[in-house]
Amino acid sequence: MRSPVASQKSLRLAPDGVSVLILDQTLLPHEVRTVRLRTLAQAARAIRTMQVRGSNLIGVTAAFGIALALRADPSDAALEAAHATLLETRPTAVNLRWALDLMREHLRPLPPGHRVAAAYSRAAALLDEDVAINRSIGDHGLAILRRLLRDRPAGQPLRVMTHCNAGRIATLDWGTATAPVYRAHEEGLPIHVWVSETRPRNQGAALTAWELGGRGVPHTLVADNAAGHLMQHGLVDVVIVGADRVTARGDVANKIGTYLKALAAREHAVPFYVAFVGGSVDWTLRDGVRGIPIEQRSPREVTHITGVDADGRRVEVRLTPEGTPARNDGFDVTPARLITGLITERGVCRASAAALARLYGRPVAARGSGPRL
Ligand code: MRU
Repeated sequence: MRSPVASQKSLRLAPDGVSVLILDQTLLPHEVRTVRLRTLAQAARAIRTMQVRGSNLIGVTAAFGIALALRADPSDAALEAAHATLLETRPTAVNLRWALDLMREHLRPLPPGHRVAAAYSRAAALLDEDVAINRSIGDHGLAILRRLLRDRPAGQPLRVMTHCNAGRIATLDWGTATAPVYRAHEEGLPIHVWVSETRPRNQGAALTAWELGGRGVPHTLVADNAAGHLMQHGLVDVVIVGADRVTARGDVANKIGTYLKALAAREHAVPFYVAFVGGSVDWTLRDGVRGIPIEQRSPREVTHITGVDADGRRVEVRLTPEGTPARNDGFDVTPARLITGLITERGVCRASAAALARLYGRPVAARGSGPRL
């Protein structure tokens, strides 16, 4: 049985059929609050401030942001302006551009008077599709987990490590990295998740721990720095992470710290999988390290930390000597060669240009080109 918390949607259209209700992820896990978005500015702000976050979810929120913008003004100029405003909210996850381009291509040929209804119905379709797509990732990933379980002593759980939150609140319902875990749990397979805290914003500690707990999936929180140690001692059977941008040859940008886990996994022969949807692939790029823009975030996220005190009051405290300089790269890139496989809605493939192109029915990216094709 799922608790009400476990089924709280990260985004839905309000009963008025116009405004959009989101779960404010900046307040989790201490407060479950729904926020209503009525305007383009509010949608852009929700993405920028990470009230909504995770690659899939920011794409769907942006799609609804276009619908909200067109309600105020359905002209060509307003459509272009909304596209530009939403696109600059966060730079790394390519799902944002994918969803915005898709909306613009769908809406531009229509007469302005028909655009609002069409925008809402396309955004709603994206939302529904995301649920089905993530479920499909879950099914493909489940086959991998079943196979790995055969190597575990009878009755012993499969120990999955994940990083950040590529969970059901970063998408709609299943998550990407968590989808195979939820499917395995649903099937009654013994599974245990190592949740890495994900400094500096702690999406693992705050969000993944919250949603796994809500669905009754056994898990243990570990400091980010513990990953190599756990792998070295044979305590991790597989790593599954999500993605913010995957290049045409299979390099993957994901939350900062993912790359270190991939390096440790390679050293200790732990399979390292990345789960994502087709909208996360940037077919214009090959070399992720050179080509993927990495979000630079406030140093304050490194020097300070937020939680609740003994009275449940939300407090921010400083960790460092006052004025300590800090740098805060939001993402890193894991080269394809460190990745065992890519788990997508279309199946599992190797992290290579040929395998990805085959899976998505695209021409194979040219070799030896610069960062942009
Ligand atoms: O900065 P965030 O919290 O938006 O970063 C999220 C991640 O890195 C996720 O792993 C990724 O977006 C996949 S979510 C389906």
